[in-house]
Amino acid sequence: MLNLENLLSEFNSQISLIQNKEALEEIRLQFLGKKGSVTELFSQLKNVVVEEKKSFGAALNKVRDEVTQKIEAKKEYFEDLDLNEKLISEKIDISEPFRKEPLGLIHPISKVTQEIREIFATLGFEFEEGPEIEDDFHNFTALNMPKDHPARQMQDTFYLQNSELLLRTHTSNTQIRKMLNSKPPLKIAALGRVFRRDSDQTHTPMFHQVEGFIVDENVNMGNLKWVLEQFLQAFFEVKNLELRFRPSFFPFTEPSAEVDIGYSANDGKIKIGNFNPPSSATQELAPKGNEKFMEILGCGMIHPNVLRNCGIDPEKYQGFAFGIGVERLAMLKYGINDLRMFFENDVRFLQHYGFKASEF
Ligand code: DAH
Repeated sequence: MLNLENLLSEFNSQISLIQNKEALEEIRLQFLGKKGSVTELFSQLKNVVVEEKKSFGAALNKVRDEVTQKIEAKKEYFEDLDLNEKLISEKIDISEPFRKEPLGLIHPISKVTQEIREIFATLGFEFEEGPEIEDDFHNFTALNMPKDHPARQMQDTFYLQNSELLLRTHTSNTQIRKMLNSKPPLKIAALGRVFRRDSDQTHTPMFHQVEGFIVDENVNMGNLKWVLEQFLQAFFEVKNLELRFRPSFFPFTEPSAEVDIGYSANDGKIKIGNFNPPSSATQELAPKGNEKFMEILGCGMIHPNVLRNCGIDPEKYQGFAFGIGVERLAMLKYGINDLRMFFENDVRFLQHYGFKASEF
């Protein structure tokens, strides 16, 4: 019996000194392991004289239970300690004030996209989405460009391998899709990515266009001109815009025009509109000195063949349409002079030209 008391007091003094889980495990092995001192005593039970066997066995059980229970308690204590430490180190202070100036900035294309959408919505246009992966019919044929039409070469196309499909070269595909599945009157705008095999300072293989069109009875070029003027004035926030409508050619419009916008460049800074008043007696608009024109969009009256291809009677309905380069607009408004910068993902570009979320 004395033996047992010594064992227990030794255990008690050892466990009181334990500082960590590893040392605790050692003590467990030392007392309760296969060769541990408590286990050892159990194997000696058979040598104890019969009269004492019962009481010794009971006392031994008590010792083992006490040792086991103290080890368990200590183990729990260490686990609690670990958990508390973790809770403290991983704590998030949800009451901490958030960063006043968020680091993220809005890309100029996102900003301009938002501005364009707002203006056309104000003018009563409804926005439609068209697919970026398109078929030949919606991108070309229905737009009055049958196979072998030379105008197809104006737009170097990406074709999908082993497929009839292509990446749309313009947002005009949306015109066709919309006209095919709805009836006039239509007043639609579409904004999205387009793709062409082209890359230099003024071309990137992917860029954005905004397309708009109206189909109704009694639509004319005058309406088209008014809508474009309203849009450009609102977009550039300039009342005195100089716009030049130049006769042009697109297979899907007749007549067709390209529109140039007047700007002046001083010390590399671009300013839209506000040309000096024309000096000649003819009042003819002619740029002077640092005043220049830049082409920004194509437009025209929707070709009767296009209306017919979409099941719309050109005797009854007319339409106008226009397509504008979104990057062009962004470059002019925000003085960005290399198109490629938009898509190089150089963070310095965004830091310089990006917009704060609050300005979005
Ligand atoms: N789709 C033409 C292009 O990408 C732009 C365009 C011109 C669109 C005239 C039109 C339009 O809707 O009427 O070059």
